[in-house]
Amino acid sequence: MPVVTEIEDLHRIFRRRVPRMFYDYCESGSWTEQTFRENISDFDRIRLRQRVAVDMENRNLGTTIIGQDVSMPVALAPVGLTGMQNADGEIKAARAAHRFGVPFTLSTMSICSIEDVAAETGQPFWFQLYVMRDQDFLARLIERAKKANCSALVLTLDLQILGQRHRDLKNGLSAPPKLTWSAMMNLSTKWGWGLEMLRTRRRSFGNIVGHAKGVENPASLMSWIGEQFDPQLDWNKVHRIKEMWGGKLVLKGILDAEDARMAAEVGADAIVVSNHGGRQLDGALSSIRALPQIVREVGDRVEVHMDGGVRSGQDVLKALAMGAKGAWIGRAWVYGLGAMGERGVTTALEIIRKELDTTMALCGRKDVRTLDRNILLVPRDFEGDWA
Ligand code: GLV
Repeated sequence: MPVVTEIEDLHRIFRRRVPRMFYDYCESGSWTEQTFRENISDFDRIRLRQRVAVDMENRNLGTTIIGQDVSMPVALAPVGLTGMQNADGEIKAARAAHRFGVPFTLSTMSICSIEDVAAETGQPFWFQLYVMRDQDFLARLIERAKKANCSALVLTLDLQILGQRHRDLKNGLSAPPKLTWSAMMNLSTKWGWGLEMLRTRRRSFGNIVGHAKGVENPASLMSWIGEQFDPQLDWNKVHRIKEMWGGKLVLKGILDAEDARMAAEVGADAIVVSNHGGRQLDGALSSIRALPQIVREVGDRVEVHMDGGVRSGQDVLKALAMGAKGAWIGRAWVYGLGAMGERGVTTALEIIRKELDTTMALCGRKDVRTLDRNILLVPRDFEGDWA
């Protein structure tokens, strides 16, 4: 096994180990992938102020997010299909996150179900909800998350309709994978992945199969999912879901200051500035660019978090210094999971913690709770002069 010192090492192993269809699902943005790329390249445009001769002994990365103690202000973002990146992937990632002291968010589109993750980890986790047309199914999902003791509901608002990712269509993405000739050729080279998959029974969407009407086999499942995202989702529905849930609510997928105001008015505990990892509205602002305006707009009323392009501790530091209370990682933990299972997720978190800690120290700061824009050098045009 090669020596792993950075997230990109995990990415390389992940790419070799996992079938093409699932690697591509993780690594795609929508349409031209402009927003997907800019999530990363806009982080690179921000520079850090190096400070010297500042006492950096006894540093602290611990804080709270939405009232929960965390060992660093990072959360595992919801990612669909992670049980296809590594057998029982959601259970492994939830365990790694829990041991590390950061929140894990289970996607509606997970392979392991809410009940699987609750039973296997015995720990509260966050549940991400898509608003579905099938109101009974939606209400039952919320009840199931309550029963499983989920400690926050993360309601995704930016996927009422799916942004097209070309490679998913070309690969015929499905779970379990459709055995076309080219998928079989590719799968035959991924024996490590395949052996583990043969040992688990969890190979389809665990939150859906057996819980939704009209979903009996993989073919009906993929078409059911395609038709289920609710195009009529509006702020009244968000309000209703808040009432039905009754616990901590995080609204994810906010990129515009006006929407941030609406989210604050609904009474969310936190919002996540997000463009869905560049997978939805191609051409939208990168998350790190959208963040400052939203912090200015609602930062005094609601916790503002962000995701999109976070691949290092330096990125986490930049997001925090720009006003985020937490930076969520998506692909960075999936690379770890696909590469090495639970150990890989832990390794990804350790890499990010070390980078965050060292970078903070070299900026002359000792406490993650006191970071501000003074440690950054931000290009004058960064937020743009958009008309
Ligand atoms: C849905 O969560 C997706 O981005 O694929």
